[in-house]
Amino acid sequence: MTDKTILRALKGEVLPTPPIWMMRQAGRYLPEYRATRAKAGDFLSLCYNPELAAEVTLQPIRRYGFDAAILFADILLLPQALGPKLWFETGEGPRMETTTTMGQVNALKPTEAIHDTLSPIYETVRILAAELPKETTLIGFAGAPWTVATYMIAGKGSKDQAAAHLLKDTDRPTFQALIDRIAEATVEYLSMQISAGVEVVKLFDSWAGSLKGQDFRDFATAPTARIIAALKSRHPDIPIIAFPREAGQGYIGFGHQTGADCVAIDNSVSPEWAAANVQIDGCVQGNLAPEHMVTGGQALVAATQHVARAFRNGPHIFNLGHGITPEADPANVQLMIDTVRAG
Ligand code: CP3
Repeated sequence: MTDKTILRALKGEVLPTPPIWMMRQAGRYLPEYRATRAKAGDFLSLCYNPELAAEVTLQPIRRYGFDAAILFADILLLPQALGPKLWFETGEGPRMETTTTMGQVNALKPTEAIHDTLSPIYETVRILAAELPKETTLIGFAGAPWTVATYMIAGKGSKDQAAAHLLKDTDRPTFQALIDRIAEATVEYLSMQISAGVEVVKLFDSWAGSLKGQDFRDFATAPTARIIAALKSRHPDIPIIAFPREAGQGYIGFGHQTGADCVAIDNSVSPEWAAANVQIDGCVQGNLAPEHMVTGGQALVAATQHVARAFRNGPHIFNLGHGITPEADPANVQLMIDTVRAG
């Protein structure tokens, strides 16, 4: 039996105080993160430097005592390991060589080759497994295939994922082959993270909300279910969190349909709705609006209490509905934690 609160919540236990961590908890809102990133040179150099990546993972744990640490890396490292070039444009975000034809999908590196690029990430995990406080859970992650595909197809982030929708609707064989390649590589990547010491894995499907109807079932639910089944067959005890962001009605039953132990909820749905429709099936994570980390004050306290109270009768991991932003005030994070822990 584990004492780690996150693992207990993931097994379905209802705790008097929900365990808490925050998406992007190691990030630019923290001065110590900005200092380490400057030392590394740039964001990707930081991701591939195990000592410094472990350092920034630990920073929010030292400062706040979160119940979980999330491996510092990025969902775009896996597609990069399959061959396409990746870089970050300052002030704009990721840029990637595009993959839009069957020839390009076939030219991606074989799955076994990803570890050549990703081995520093496994080293970061090993350092963290040794250095984290014993009560802190280490979470590994990857992007879900649809979200990773949207970046591989468009070569950058986009509001509506139009390029990926176009490929899906005009060249289904190429699109499906790409999804399958990403899913296969994701299983190997997460499996190596688990062998190196992560205790939970999370699949980020940040753009799941733009998939509707059958597309949601085919390209959000089905690939997630396949990845989870493959991971659970190799690592039966590993808990898995799925985050089909902005899925709306698609959140209902997502845990059962995919085999995920926990469904992470964004803040476009109310916590009462998520408690009634999603938490009835098991553990949920979420869903305070990240804007409160910028604005703070009594509104932050009230909204934090609202989320904690709405989910208090079932298994719950307190988190934001999406990542904390660079404009956030570190003092507001402390206020959120104090509010959750005061009950
Ligand atoms: O949560 C954590 O603290 C762990 C590390 C983590 C990062 N990215 C670090 C990061 C995780 C889990 C991610 C996931 C990720 N990356 C997602 C899915 C979650 C989500 O936010 O929807 C996506 C879509 C990406 C791709 C990505 N990485 C984008 C679009 C950007 C640019 C946007 C931005 O915030 O600048 C990144 C960069 C990135 N990833 C940063 C961090 C800390 C900022 C980079 C910097 O320091 O300059």
